[in-house]
Amino acid sequence: MTNDSKQYFSDLVAQFEEFLFSELKHFLHTGNHPEELYEPMYYALSQGGKRLRPCFAVAASRIFGKEMQCIWFTATALELFHNFTLIHDDVMDHSDMRHGAPSVVAKYGLSAAILSGDAMFALAFHLLTEAQKGLSSEVKSEVTQAFSQMSVAIMEGQQYDINFQSRSDTSLSDYIHMIRLKTAELLATALKMGALIGGATPQAADLLYQSGIQIGLAFQLRDDHLDVYGSTDVFGKPIGGDIAENKQTWLLLSAKEKSAALSDKALEKALTCNNREEKIERVKAIYDQFHLADEIDAEIATYTHQALLLLGEVERIFPVDKEALAALKDLYNRLASRAF
Ligand code: IPE
Ligand code: IPE
Ligand code: MG
Ligand code: MG
Ligand code: MG
Repeated sequence: MTNDSKQYFSDLVAQFEEFLFSELKHFLHTGNHPEELYEPMYYALSQGGKRLRPCFAVAASRIFGKEMQCIWFTATALELFHNFTLIHDDVMDHSDMRHGAPSVVAKYGLSAAILSGDAMFALAFHLLTEAQKGLSSEVKSEVTQAFSQMSVAIMEGQQYDINFQSRSDTSLSDYIHMIRLKTAELLATALKMGALIGGATPQAADLLYQSGIQIGLAFQLRDDHLDVYGSTDVFGKPIGGDIAENKQTWLLLSAKEKSAALSDKALEKALTCNNREEKIERVKAIYDQFHLADEIDAEIATYTHQALLLLGEVERIFPVDKEALAALKDLYNRLASRAF
């Protein structure tokens, strides 16, 4: 199944990108002024990325059998929204690199990053209205509500992420709450919107949403893991940024807990180090000492398992397209062990 599923999603991504770029021509065509606003938008969207939210939305709609043209507008709205959050995230996280290339803020500056991000957010809502042609008024209002509630949730999560950087009392459950908001909500909402558009009952759409929350938590845990243990060439982002920026990740919070239990001050000292590279190296050595790379793998496996169980429930209770559901399950497994 793995190879079939890989093919399933690489075909889906190709189809999505064709739609995305033909749609964007209406908005981002050359000659659209001011180009300082439009060029960064096009740049951000053309640097690649996994296109995961579109994959989730389209696969979810197929699970319930109805693939309507409007799902591609929804998928585009989700990807625009996602890239808007990445542009602003790189400003907040002082990240110069994304997708193995300069981030929008590094390439075009702060004003362009703020404004092009804002414009992408607005454009996402515009596309969402396009996405609703042909839908019942009930589904329309559920889809719009899901998208706008999710948008606010992301901002809440991002604000918590920033708040935690300058606090020393963040708990692991605070962290889980924060990543649920900043990351899992968007993935879960992509599944829910796709499901609703595909004709799912509210109960079925909610099961997919719950499953998306679990895989979203696993997804952010893996992102945090790769930020320390990944390879820049594959991951496309600089390694060690979270440590340098005092991000309160699962790795750091677990290391803090273990250090406190041993009354060991090495981590506290390492965190005050002013040299970026040395700080990263010293903190990483403490993670290694506590075998946190293995522990986070186990944590990711647990959330992924929960996510898969919930997909199993969908299959047990509702009539589904078995190919789409199996492909999504397989994608969950591949995401759990991804290197990029
Ligand atoms: C990055 O998301 C932001 C997080 C939620 C960790 P992705 O890893 O899905 O980003 P792209 O779109 O594939 O670059
Ligand atoms: C990102 O979390 C979440 C959002 C963009 C909303 P990160 O800050 O960890 O994402 P990356 O690692 O920069 O992609
Ligand atoms: Mg961030
Ligand atoms: Mg970031
Ligand atoms: Mg990260």
